[in-house]
Amino acid sequence: MSTESIAIKTSGPLHGTVKLVGAKNAVLVIMASLILTKGKNKLTNVPFSEDVLHMIRLLQSLGAIVEQDREQSTLYIDTSDLVSAQIGADIMKKMRASILVMGPLLARFGSADIAMPGGCVLGARPIGLHLKAFSKMGATYTQHEDSLTAEAKQLRSVKHVLEYPSVGATENIMMASVLSEGKTRIVNAAIEPEVLDLIDALQQMGAQILVEPPASILITGVSSLQSIEHQILHDRLEAGTLLLAAAITGGEIDIPDAPADSMEVFLAKLEEMGHTITRGEHGRGVHIKATKNPQAVSFKTMPYPGFPTDLQAPMMAALCLASGKSVIHETVFENRLLHVRELQKMGAQIAVDGQTATIVGVDELYGASVIATDIRASAALVIAGLVAQGDTSMTGVHHLKRGYEDVVSKLAALGGKIKLLEE
Ligand code: UD1
Repeated sequence: MSTESIAIKTSGPLHGTVKLVGAKNAVLVIMASLILTKGKNKLTNVPFSEDVLHMIRLLQSLGAIVEQDREQSTLYIDTSDLVSAQIGADIMKKMRASILVMGPLLARFGSADIAMPGGCVLGARPIGLHLKAFSKMGATYTQHEDSLTAEAKQLRSVKHVLEYPSVGATENIMMASVLSEGKTRIVNAAIEPEVLDLIDALQQMGAQILVEPPASILITGVSSLQSIEHQILHDRLEAGTLLLAAAITGGEIDIPDAPADSMEVFLAKLEEMGHTITRGEHGRGVHIKATKNPQAVSFKTMPYPGFPTDLQAPMMAALCLASGKSVIHETVFENRLLHVRELQKMGAQIAVDGQTATIVGVDELYGASVIATDIRASAALVIAGLVAQGDTSMTGVHHLKRGYEDVVSKLAALGGKIKLLEE
């Protein structure tokens, strides 16, 4: 386990312009989808976060030849000579997104042999919806102690009605069905921007996919797919995290790449707090001028286009210092309030009842030794640390690194007194 920590001192208002990287949740699934191709693929605007490095190792273990050009944020992935090798626990346990190779492996090789996935500690995080869908398409399973083999000679095209619009299940079903004969329909599909970016990548490969409003996806199978060049969409969750860091410090920052049109509910909540938000033209770019007197706001996390669960923890950090009482209801994951305990250590007044957190704004937070338990919790603690009186030291840095490429340097460049300490 790493002994790294992040040291944060009380910082003044953040100022400046910041560039975004590509979306973690888009690049991971698009990398997995390349299993469907045979040839050299090029992905640009790639964030080199730890999860992306895990996905590179996973693809290499299947025989992909991967070249990284970090300067250009570009990845070349040659999938000409892939084999359906077993994906061991060492890779699968590192991130839950590894489950996303199951659909493309079944489609290309008719089998997938995987250890059970890992990732953030966000509750049970079952994969039942994925497995149910594959079995409806004709897959059979052999369960071993800590791994699973799925087999399907020829996947069938069927209608899937998801009882919940799971992002991962929607993506896995799409990738499993693009090569199967006939028409597949996904009803109550997830339509997160990252799902749409996957659809864009699959369409470039030659897949036939239609999104039918409000939330159905229709796939007509094709016999083969070609390699692609694809630019990953910008990360709305990194944008949200940086906006909240500016908000809590009373700063003013500009994010020209921010995909404002996919952040509306979140931006509306920032405005309700009293911050001035200016959107750029054509749905792109966000400027924030933070109020010095933020007000409490309440919200529920929801599937897109609702308030994103990934911004719940960072938003909570900002609300700890807002006037009045905020109520947050986490509806997406059952165990995504672990940052509360750490924010309380910093002086936040938060009461939790089941999935609901009630925050009463305080005048000040205090620096403390805190532990990050998942990617977005780590972002929340960094945000709180920027305004806490005294020094904050955060361990569990690997969570931050899993989800963000170099966010510490970005915050420092905006004026944050923040440093990564390596022992
Ligand atoms: C993805 C994102 C994650 C984000 C989440 C919701 C990636 C790599 N991760 O995760 O950052 O927080 O979407 O926007 O893209 N569920 C089941 N059975 C299943 C699958 C999911 O019950 O088979 C439940 C989960 O436990 C959770 C809810 O559905 O309560 C949402 O999960 P899902 O949308 O699948 O999220 P992920 O794809 O895991």
